[in-house]
Amino acid sequence: MIEKINRAADYIKSQITGTPEVGIILGSGLGNFGNRIENSIKIPYENIPEFPVSTVEGHSGQLIFGDMAGKKVVAMQGRFHYYEGYEMNQVTLPVRVLKMLGVSTLFVSNAAGGLNPSFNAGDMMIIRDHINFFPQNALRGKNLDDLGPRFPDMSEPYSQKLIAEAENIAQAEGIEVKKGVYVGSSGPTLETSAEYKMFRILGADATGMSTVPEVILAVHMGMKVFGMSVITNVSEPADPDKGTTHDEVQDVAGTVEPQMTKIFSKLIESL
Ligand code: HPA
Repeated sequence: MIEKINRAADYIKSQITGTPEVGIILGSGLGNFGNRIENSIKIPYENIPEFPVSTVEGHSGQLIFGDMAGKKVVAMQGRFHYYEGYEMNQVTLPVRVLKMLGVSTLFVSNAAGGLNPSFNAGDMMIIRDHINFFPQNALRGKNLDDLGPRFPDMSEPYSQKLIAEAENIAQAEGIEVKKGVYVGSSGPTLETSAEYKMFRILGADATGMSTVPEVILAVHMGMKVFGMSVITNVSEPADPDKGTTHDEVQDVAGTVEPQMTKIFSKLIESL
């Protein structure tokens, strides 16, 4: 495994100059974030040795290296989801590669369904903690001792310092943000009513199909993590006859994008 990680990292190092300090996984809500990176160098995933091959036609995504707010950053445009059929070590390989490149702080965004009754579609939620409901822990298997411990501490997976800073930024910018617990499960089905209710009872405020595996790996390697969800739909909609569609998820994510981009870029500036 370590050889694969190094092979990918060595190739990337041969294509870039400087050391990125911040990694950003661009999920929903940060779709255009990559365009704000200056002096950018783009590396398509298909060019990177050992990177997973996309299951869908077209491009699987790219890494965007460059400068933002005076920091060297690398963004992952496109991520690998467990529901697509990738193994956990494929889903999380890019995060390990980012660490090898020098990244010490990881930012993530995603789309999620709101469980907390006070949430509405179009809200943004700072992830303060998560529940791993994937059928497999992303660290299952032989531990890579050079990267981190066998039994990593998970008492603060999301940096309290970054959360506090993000809340200050949101307040100063007049942007309303919620804060809560994200439960990650495999998908690709959205939850049944009974499952939404179960997740609420378990203590989650939002539910989605990504992020948890990547964050577990990042924490294992000692990275600082900050994450936000776009609440694209809620578990108890005003019109219960109307289900959730993927188009709806995309539309809502698009509308909050400027605000979410603002919070992330100011937060990077504050590092
Ligand atoms: N459930 C799971 N994942 C999601 C949802 C949801 O309701 N909305 C957006 N991603």
